[in-house]
Order: sequence, then structure tokens, then C-alpha cells
Amino acid sequence: MLIIAHRGASAEAPENTLVAMHRALECKADGIEIDIYAVDGEIFVFHDRYLERLTAHPGRLQDLTAAQIRKLKVFGQHPVPTLAEVLESIGGRCLLNIELKGEVPLDLLAPLLERARGEFGFTAEQLILSSFNHHWLKALHGRCPWVRLGALNASCMLDYAAFATELGAYSLHTCVDFVDQALVDDAHQRGLPVYVYTVDESHDIHELKKMGVDGIFTNHPQFARNVLDGL
Ligand code: G3P
Ligand code: CA
Repeated sequence: MLIIAHRGASAEAPENTLVAMHRALECKADGIEIDIYAVDGEIFVFHDRYLERLTAHPGRLQDLTAAQIRKLKVFGQHPVPTLAEVLESIGGRCLLNIELKGEVPLDLLAPLLERARGEFGFTAEQLILSSFNHHWLKALHGRCPWVRLGALNASCMLDYAAFATELGAYSLHTCVDFVDQALVDDAHQRGLPVYVYTVDESHDIHELKKMGVDGIFTNHPQFARNVLDGL
């Protein structure tokens, strides 16, 4: 079962910052998950639509210029990285799941994904683009058919594995509250790996492993590794 550091190793470092990415690599996480928005012609790695929780700045990320976002500090200390900076910093050392939080123009995203598997050293197998917005995933597939898609699901949607297959997804990403053996088996029969978010409890880690889940998104990759290793 893959351990994917959710927003980086976000239990130990400020989420979606380069420090959280480096901590995840130190913990030997199999993968890192990040969230992205496009603002003012740049792609930034950030989770919230609003700035307050992470930067104490009022208002919305979308309303700033790229220059203003570069001056923000997450938890008073850490810059908001661009996607290019994260790609360069991880450099193909683990799997990277990029979640589209806002609509990202494909003219901005597609060239960066090409650079990811060229200049930044990722293989196509190391990149997964996911979103709760399946229309964006379809459009991305049209532009970059080589990119693996992760179909995100936040509810107990009926026939979710069939839906993900129809979408052309590589993997099914579901909330820990809505995963069960039937869904995992259905996904596996269709050849879809199942990745579950957000899993920080040892009980859940054991249960999901028993179910045959292929990966978990966790804020605490070191803890998850220890649980899996029986430490
Ligand atoms: O990609 C899985 C998970 O990150 C989705 O929820 O809100 O943590 O981005 P959220
Ligand atoms: Ca996310």
C-alpha cells in the first residue's frame, strides 16, 4: 500500500510548502499530493480558496496578482511555491499527485507537465492529475492523453468505479468515509487502483490494507510507515 504525503508531510510542516515536500521525501513517502490553482498566468500550490487560514491575509487567492502571492508567507514563514518549483524540487524522486482545485488553463498546465517528464525527471507513471471536477479531467485528457487521471470522489456515489472507467481514469481516489470492500473489488476488477484520503489513524491504516487498498493519502507519512512496519 503506497504512502502518499497529503499536501506534503503536512502534520509536520506547513502544508503544500517546499519544507513539507522535503519532509515527505525524508520520510521516504512513496508519493506526494499537492493542490493547485492558476492565478494571473502562474500555477501556485495552495489548498484553500481563501487566504486567511494559511496566511492570515484577508480575501481570496484568485484576487491577488502573482507578485502579491509571491510575497505571502504560509504560517508567517514559508513562501507559496509555484508548481514549477515543486516539480523541480521533487525532481522525479517519488510519485506526484497534482489535484486541480481551481480551473487551470491547459495552455499553462500542459507545457509544465511536459517539462515534468522531461526537464524535471518524472516518468509518466509518476504523475497523476486528479480533481473532483471531472469535466476538467476530461479536457486535460483531450490535451495530454499520456497523463494519468485520478477520479476524486467525496461521496458514496453509486457505480463509482464504472464512472471512473468511463472517464478514462487511471485510479479511483475516494474518501476514507466512503470506501468499502465492494468498491475496492469493483475498482480492481476494472483495473483501477484505489487511493484513499485522508488516513491518519492506525486502525484505518490496518483496515484499508486488509481491504486491498492500493494507497493512502496521509498527513503523517512517517507514522503511517511505522504502523505498516509494525513499529
Ligand atoms: O486528493 C485527496 C484529498 O486531498 C482531497 O481533499 O480537501 O484534502 O484537497 P482535500
Ligand atoms: Ca488535495
